[in-house]
Amino acid sequence: MTIREMQDEIIRLKKEKDICILVHAYVGHDIWEVADFVGDSYGLSKQAAAAPQKNVLMCGVRFMAETCKILSPEKRVYLSHSDAGCPMAEQIGKKVIEEFKKKNPDTTVVAYINTTADLKTVCDVCVTSSSALQIVNNIENKDILFIPDMNLGGWIREKCPDKNIKLMQGGCPTHALISKTNVERLKAIHPDALLLVHPECRKEVVDLADYVGSTTGIMDFAKKSDAKEFIIGTENSIVQHLQMECLDKRFYELSKECVCRNMKLTTLADVYNMVKYGECEEIIMDEETRLAAKKPLDKMLELGG
Ligand code: 13P
Ligand code: SF4
Repeated sequence: MTIREMQDEIIRLKKEKDICILVHAYVGHDIWEVADFVGDSYGLSKQAAAAPQKNVLMCGVRFMAETCKILSPEKRVYLSHSDAGCPMAEQIGKKVIEEFKKKNPDTTVVAYINTTADLKTVCDVCVTSSSALQIVNNIENKDILFIPDMNLGGWIREKCPDKNIKLMQGGCPTHALISKTNVERLKAIHPDALLLVHPECRKEVVDLADYVGSTTGIMDFAKKSDAKEFIIGTENSIVQHLQMECLDKRFYELSKECVCRNMKLTTLADVYNMVKYGECEEIIMDEETRLAAKKPLDKMLELGG
């Protein structure tokens, strides 16, 4: 079977079996082409709730599938590959936050959406990379703990000087691979290119960027911009998607190493096996956990518009 034949069969079967396929921007382009919706974690979590289909296949990582289940309990939600976790989502345990809240009862705990459902149950508000700034600004409380990404949290702290934002040790191991040296090297080769980066990158990289934003933010910026060349400082699938969609522009990887191993676990064959034979892990969550984890997500949707 060719890739094209497999894609055609997936598109036919997903309609027949009432399956909505959601694909994160870090997943490969062959899977991107069979999606009902593509995008960043905020966009996908909203799409999952609004989708009319009874079944949702999340091609991404576990916290994204959990988010779908939390927002759409009546749907059957599947994760494209059982081993696809996000290392950052598991860096801070629930007990640490429970202890923190005991000692700091007046601090609002803001959790990046890249957290487990279990950790969300003890947090006050969730944010994504695209909504974090707006949401933190909209929180009435000045005292905030931002977890787990120190880079995103530090960037928000700079942008919101009126807030007292504490951070804990945590971050994305993939984006941590990009350094200022990568920027200097690429800028020397492509001096006219704009540098677009994800806020999970280190401060030394973010400080040099022409644009900082979520995966969807980066893609929208590049598509709308009059510039012709872009250096992309986030997971390298974004470069592939952009290059396929904007043939008149050039896109360069800031670092060859910026590949999220977990996002790359899902193959087109996994998607095919799910829609054809139902071979896929279903997300099962007890109602107590779901309801408690839903509170910070509801707050996110309320404060983020
Ligand atoms: P987005 O919210 O931009 O989709 O990012 C998710 C993520 O995992 C980035 O590493
Ligand atoms: Fe997690 Fe980083 Fe992969 Fe995003 S790129 S899913 S934050 S490990």
